[in-house]
Amino acid sequence: MLDIAVINAADPESRSGANVLRWFLGQAGRRDDLRPDVVDLGRTPLPAPSAPRAGAGTREARELAARIGAADGFVMITPEHNHAYPAVLKLAIDAVRREWAAKPAAFVSYGGQSGGLRAVEQLRLVLAELHVVTLRDTVSFHRVETRFDERGEPLDRAGVDGAAKVLLDQLMWWGTALREARAARPYTV
Ligand SMILES: Cc1cc2nc3c(=O)[nH]c(=O)nc-3n(C[C@H](O)[C@H](O)[C@H](O)COP(=O)(O)O)c2cc1C
Repeated sequence: MLDIAVINAADPESRSGANVLRWFLGQAGRRDDLRPDVVDLGRTPLPAPSAPRAGAGTREARELAARIGAADGFVMITPEHNHAYPAVLKLAIDAVRREWAAKPAAFVSYGGQSGGLRAVEQLRLVLAELHVVTLRDTVSFHRVETRFDERGEPLDRAGVDGAAKVLLDQLMWWGTALREARAARPYTV
């Protein structure tokens, strides 16, 4: 059983964001090999952006660091805003340091034509600095507003459920391997 922090960068008012999160947690809930901790950034107190290292040492940063530190891996769920991921996600990334290291991250993205893929590619660059291992496969919702029915269910259920299974299988592989490796030999940052 791995502890997985599901870091949601959606705007709290976003219907598309709520659909994607609900669908993903349904997929995660089917499995008996992971325990999700939903870090909903729109509803999580974050450090002020003006402080050095986005407020490291503040109560908000310590609380976030404890949740990231307790995780064996991450799923980042993100929309694309102006060809990047939302600022709230950068704030959270910058508020934590060592707790990210030597752990895997998987991505679920959504947006317009690009499905959030440009946001994911930017995340890969940033997370490399923090020693996060990013997974090749992603799940992306292109033109997300057309991908769910009025009840919030995905229209291509077989397609996206299959993609989520691949994603989570790979995350479990890396999460298990890296947890064993960190236990055998501490990773130095
Ligand atoms: C400020 C802003 C910038 C956006 N920029 C992009 C973008 O560059 N590429 C893209 O595919 N979608 C972009 N979108 C669309 C979002 O990724 C997303 O699909 C949409 O906001 C989700 O629906 P919602 O409005 O219900 O949250 C943008 C949305 C906002 C609010």
